[in-house]
Amino acid sequence: MHLTAEQEELLENGRFGERKAMEILCALGDIFGADRLVPISSAHVSGVSYKTIGDAGIEFLTDMAQGTRVRARTTANPTAMDRQRWKEMGISDDFAQKQLEIVGLYEKMGVEESWTCTPYLAGNRPSRGDIIAWAESSAVAFANSVIGARTNREGGPSALASALTGLTPRYGLHIDGNRKATVIVEVSSPLKGKDFASLGCVVGEFAGDGVPYFRGLSASESEMKSLGAALASTGSIPLFHIEDVTPEHKNAVADELERIDIGREELDEKAEELGTEEEPDIVAIGCPHLSMEELKDLAGRRMKKRKGTEIWLCTSRHVYSQARGLLDQLEDIGKVLCDTCMVVCPIEDRSRVVATDSGKAAFYLPKFCSQEVVFDDVGSLMRRFL
Ligand code: F3S
Repeated sequence: MHLTAEQEELLENGRFGERKAMEILCALGDIFGADRLVPISSAHVSGVSYKTIGDAGIEFLTDMAQGTRVRARTTANPTAMDRQRWKEMGISDDFAQKQLEIVGLYEKMGVEESWTCTPYLAGNRPSRGDIIAWAESSAVAFANSVIGARTNREGGPSALASALTGLTPRYGLHIDGNRKATVIVEVSSPLKGKDFASLGCVVGEFAGDGVPYFRGLSASESEMKSLGAALASTGSIPLFHIEDVTPEHKNAVADELERIDIGREELDEKAEELGTEEEPDIVAIGCPHLSMEELKDLAGRRMKKRKGTEIWLCTSRHVYSQARGLLDQLEDIGKVLCDTCMVVCPIEDRSRVVATDSGKAAFYLPKFCSQEVVFDDVGSLMRRFL
């Protein structure tokens, strides 16, 4: 991979974090056959929750943060707790201290106070064609597909390396030809609610790391958020197209492609496979983090919690701050939690069964949090457990 003189200088004589960052980017570029490094307009880093990165993660960040600051706008994924309500979540003082140390290290490097998997709803929204370096698979799928920005599916270290250098290796989805569809998915049933998550889980399984092109589908931005998160969970899908909906759909189908039909039967089968009929300890909505549109919808239901089940509504601090007028109605339903989510917080310390409408959460809660899952639409969950 070709480096400019300035990039060579950063690799040889930069600060510790900058040298490490350049080493990571050069290794990636060499592995994937990048010709050069290109400037990014924003980065989004993962690896923030103390539950997931532990003490080894703190050590890594401490080394990287020595005298180094981000060179591009950078937001970061959720932490393991609501930074204001962590005591209500049953988080211990020791755990909270470690989590705050991680937050402090990111802030020291100039990462924005964001702590969300939906940076595009929290002020870090790129434009079509922008080159970015984002970790967080659901945000990658949204940025590439719904916005038409360009990012590979970065890991925590590579996204941080891009943040600290302002650069990313040019390969993969930064190249036009790699953004074409690899499979056509004909959707033969109208979708609503959790169907978008079920569809994502079904297609993720067979499309792997390909690029599905959906036909027969109309979807709002929130529905595409849910679809993309599920696609990126059961599969490694970084980009999808929806005919007549997403920005790059027009030139996405270049060749004769394999076609798959998905209808009601496949969606209902997947929904059944994702959930159990157990009684949940917690109903957790907001994976990915709830948008303002979704919070308005919830508040508009004017429901009041009557039963014992704990309800969590997870959103970003940014959207929360814009939802001040809705908070009374939302708190009637459940706890509005910011900066965290049901998967990256230590939910296993207090729960055995979680109910959710998210395909991504339904996929990861059993794997990472030892939880049984109840999978259903938001409306049904509210009627059943509120
Ligand atoms: Fe976001 Fe947590 Fe889901 S990080 S996408 S709410 S698993």
